[in-house]
Amino acid sequence: MSVLSDAEIEEIRHEMALYEDPQAATIEALNVVQNHRGWVSDESLEAAAEVVGVTPTQMEAVATFYNLIFRKPVGRNVIMICDSISCYLTGYESVRDHLKTSLGIDFGQTTSDNRFTLLPICCLGNCGNGPAMRVGNDYHGNLTPETIDTILADYV
Ligand code: FES
Repeated sequence: MSVLSDAEIEEIRHEMALYEDPQAATIEALNVVQNHRGWVSDESLEAAAEVVGVTPTQMEAVATFYNLIFRKPVGRNVIMICDSISCYLTGYESVRDHLKTSLGIDFGQTTSDNRFTLLPICCLGNCGNGPAMRVGNDYHGNLTPETIDTILADYV
């Protein structure tokens, strides 16, 4: 029996049907699992690979390439702060320091209440509005230490 739920398998098969080559749906399969579970364990990855028809190694390669696929447990809200050049020049360091201090965690860590995980990321494609971060699926720009607290208050 698969470790994936019937709903997960059904969603993955739906994604596969959208491609001429069903194996092209590997990233979508990983996203389906992550949407259901918050992250992708080894067991889930292997089960998703079986559904898609690729080897676990092929699936792992895709998961490694996309830094939005989490291979370890994360908090309810994942904060990804851009550390690329435009954001760096517009105040990344003060925003990063404020996040670390106010959350009491470093990169790669999760708050003790499981509310936030903090990760660095390369360019979010929001370069004209740096410093920029993504919280869950939401993009925020023109960050300052002051606006960050207001933004994060909306995430429980
Ligand atoms: S450099 Fe930060 S979003 Fe592009």
